[in-house]
Amino acid sequence: MALSASTVKTTPFEGQKPGTSGLRKKVKVFVEPNYTENFIQCILDANGSAINGSLLVVGGDGRYYCKKATEIIVRMCAANGVSRLLVGQNGILSTPAVSSLIRHNKALGGIVLTASHNPGGPENDFGIKFNCENGGPAPDAFTNKIYDLSTAIKEYKIVAGLQIDISKPGTSTFDINGKPFVVDVIDSVSNYVNHMKEIFDFAKLRDYVSGKSTGKPLKMRIDSMNGVTGSYVREIFLTNLGASEDCVVHTTPLEDFGGLHPDPNLTYAKDLVETVSKGDYDIGAAFDGDGDRNMIIGNKAFFVTPSDSLAVIAHYLECIPYFQKNGVQGFARSMPTASAVDLVGAKLGKEVFEVPTGWKYFGNLMDAGRLCLCGEESFGTGSNHIREKDGIWAVLAWLSVMQHTGKGIEEILKNHWSIYGRNYFTRYDYEECDLDPCNQMMAAMEKNITNPAFAGKSYSSGGKTYKVKVADNFSYTDPVDKSVSTKQGLRIVFEDGSRIVMRLSGTGSSGATVRLYIDSYEKDNVLGKASEMLKPLIDIALEISELPKFTGRNAPTVIT
Ligand code: G1P
Ligand code: ZN
Repeated sequence: MALSASTVKTTPFEGQKPGTSGLRKKVKVFVEPNYTENFIQCILDANGSAINGSLLVVGGDGRYYCKKATEIIVRMCAANGVSRLLVGQNGILSTPAVSSLIRHNKALGGIVLTASHNPGGPENDFGIKFNCENGGPAPDAFTNKIYDLSTAIKEYKIVAGLQIDISKPGTSTFDINGKPFVVDVIDSVSNYVNHMKEIFDFAKLRDYVSGKSTGKPLKMRIDSMNGVTGSYVREIFLTNLGASEDCVVHTTPLEDFGGLHPDPNLTYAKDLVETVSKGDYDIGAAFDGDGDRNMIIGNKAFFVTPSDSLAVIAHYLECIPYFQKNGVQGFARSMPTASAVDLVGAKLGKEVFEVPTGWKYFGNLMDAGRLCLCGEESFGTGSNHIREKDGIWAVLAWLSVMQHTGKGIEEILKNHWSIYGRNYFTRYDYEECDLDPCNQMMAAMEKNITNPAFAGKSYSSGGKTYKVKVADNFSYTDPVDKSVSTKQGLRIVFEDGSRIVMRLSGTGSSGATVRLYIDSYEKDNVLGKASEMLKPLIDIALEISELPKFTGRNAPTVIT
C-alpha cells in the first residue's frame, strides 16, 4: 500500500526528562495532544542517521494506553525512515523479552511501553523508554540528548493514514514515499521461552517441578499480579515444566492490573505472602507489571531479600548450564543494595562492582565481558543473557539452585549465612511527599555528612554504637567509558561496614519519594529478627536526616 509521511507542527512540553528508567507520567499527560508524539520523535531523532533503514522492537506491559501508543509509534517509525519493526502481538512484550529480541535480531534498539511497577489504568501511570542495540536501557548521555531535543522540538513526522492490526501475528509491508516499511507482529512469548531453554536445563527442572526426580511435585505459587508475565509464566511453568494449573495465579494481563499495585514486595504482593504463609508451599514468587522484577519467598513465606537472593545465586551460579558454558565473570550490585554479593565475589576471586541505582549502569560492564550477574535491592536480579533485569529468569535460577542442592529456600539461606555472615537489610519508602521539603532535607543532610567533622562521630541507639567511617554523595566513574555520574545518593558508611543510604526516587510520576536504605552486617549473629536487628540504625538514620521534621511523616508507606 503506498502512503506518504506528513510533518506536524508542535511545541515543546516541559519535563520530558527520562528518569531512572524512562519517562513516566500519568496517562492523562501522555494523552495530551502531541505529548507522546513529541517524545517519540525525540527518541527517533536521538539516534541520528542510524534510524534510516533501521530495525526496532516495540512492545510493552499491556497497561492502559499501550495499544494506542504502539499504533502511534508504528506510524511515526514509518515516517522517520525505520525500515522494519518487530511489534509484540497486541503491543505486548515483557521488558526482558524486548531486550532479548533486540539482541537476537541485532536491532538498533527498542521502545518499551511501561511504567514498570507503577499502577496502571486511565487514572494511573504510563511510561516510555528506549533501549539501545545492546538491549539495555539507554545510558545517561542518550537520555540527556532525548531531553535536550524535547526542549526545542518544532515538528514531528507521521504517516497518519497507516492502519495496522496488531492483534494477530503476521507481516505487513507498506510503501512509504517509495520505500518499503515492514511491520512484523510477533508472538509475544516464543523468542523469550526459547532463550530460557538455552540458559537452563529444562529437562532437569521439569523432572524436579513435576516430582519425577524427587517423588513429589514441587509446591509453587507463581503470581503474575495481572501483569505482562502471565502468558510467559503459563508457557514456561505449565507447558514446559509440567507444573499444575493451581501453581500459577493472576496470569491474565489486565490494563489496570486488576487494581493491583504490580510491585512484587511484602506490601503489594500481600495475597502471595498471606497464601504462602498459611499454606504448604516450597516456593512463592511474584513479578512486577513489565516482568523485570521478582520476589522470592520460601515455605511459610520465608522472605529472601533481593540482596541475599543475588548472593545465593552467585554462590551456586555454576549449576546453571549457561554459566558452565560461558564462564563466570564479575558480579555487581547497585550502591544501596546490601553488600552480601561482595563477600561471595571475594571468596570466588571475582571482580565486584558497585554502581548507581538503575539497570543502565550494568550494561557497559557486561558488554566489556567483566560482569555476568548483578542485582538491585529493589527486587531486580539478572545476568548478561540480556541487558535488563529478568523476573522469570530469577525464579528459574532459584529452581536450579533448589534442584542442585536438594534443599528448601530457608535452609539454603541459613547455610549461606553460616558461611558468609548476614547482611540485615531494609528499605523504607516515604511515597508522594512534597518535593520542596524533600529537596531541603537532602541538601541539609548532604551539608551535614560531607562536613569533615562528621567522619569519626559516634551514634548510639538501642544499646548499639556506630562510628562514622566515611560519608558522601555517591559518585561513580564507569570503568569502561569513564563517564561520571554524580549525586547518586547520600551514603554513611560506619566502621563495622553497616550503612545508611538515602536518595530520592527517580521513577515517580508526581511529588517525591524518599528511600531510606539500612544495611547492617553481622558475622555470627545471623538468625536474629531483621526488624529488631535493624531498629537501632533506623533510629540513627531518622535522627541524622531529620526526616520526620522535613516530610511530616512518622512512618514509611512501604517497608521492604
Ligand atoms: C527504582 C529502584 C531502582 C530500579 C528502578 C527501575 O528506582 O529503586 O533500583 O532500577 O526503580 O525499576 P527509583 O524509584 O529508586 O529511582
Ligand atoms: Zn519493572
